Amino acid sequence: MEGVTVVDHPLVARHLSVLRDRATPSGVFRQRLSEAAMLIGYEALRDLRVERVDVDTPLETTAGARLADDIVVIAILRAGLGMVDGFLGLMPEARVGHLGMYRDEQQLSPVGYYESVPEHGPEAEVVLVDPMLATGGSAASALRRLKERGARRLRFICLVAAPEGLEAVRVQHPEVPIFCAAVDDRLDERGYIRPGLGDAGDRLYGTD
Ligand code: PRP
Ligand code: URA
Repeated sequence: MEGVTVVDHPLVARHLSVLRDRATPSGVFRQRLSEAAMLIGYEALRDLRVERVDVDTPLETTAGARLADDIVVIAILRAGLGMVDGFLGLMPEARVGHLGMYRDEQQLSPVGYYESVPEHGPEAEVVLVDPMLATGGSAASALRRLKERGARRLRFICLVAAPEGLEAVRVQHPEVPIFCAAVDDRLDERGYIRPGLGDAGDRLYGTD
């Protein structure tokens, strides 16, 4: 699908298998999600803009690079939190915002309950993270809110996406690139991604 990149890499696939496994305990789930996020992020951020800086090596001055733009990582609570450490491992200088949202399990529509987004200019790279893209309601609503707050350079990074959710987000936000580790088969009647990995927030935090 146009605008959607599936990060097809053996190291990501190996983490994803452990994350899918119902026997994986919360502690391991957290660690694997963080590592998978770092690997997906590495691929998803390869077009970040850099600017040239001079670097003094012990022997002479040479050309170096630093990130040109302010980077803001936005986690959709709760499950998106599990991806933040991986991103901060890649870019310790990034600032982090939070959008609290849960899915109304009857309507399957997102309900916002918290918002903390660092002030940034229109040039900032705003990276929205949430491991699960199911109906796409949460991601589409978060992207809309971030645009209202002035974000112009957005990308969305998840782990597992349903085809229905990808389509919905692409229709509403066609200019936002999406990166994931897998596009699964379908959504079931309860709005779960199949085969999926279950409820990511519950598995991260041991709730149910
Ligand atoms: C999950 C997931 C996404 C959302 C995806 O959150 O982390 O935010 O569902 O579903 P959608 O694409 O249909 O909107 P959930 O509502 O379970 O909250 P939690 O992360 O706090 O568990
Ligand atoms: N949210 C999840 O955590 N998992 C799903 O399969 C769908 C929504």
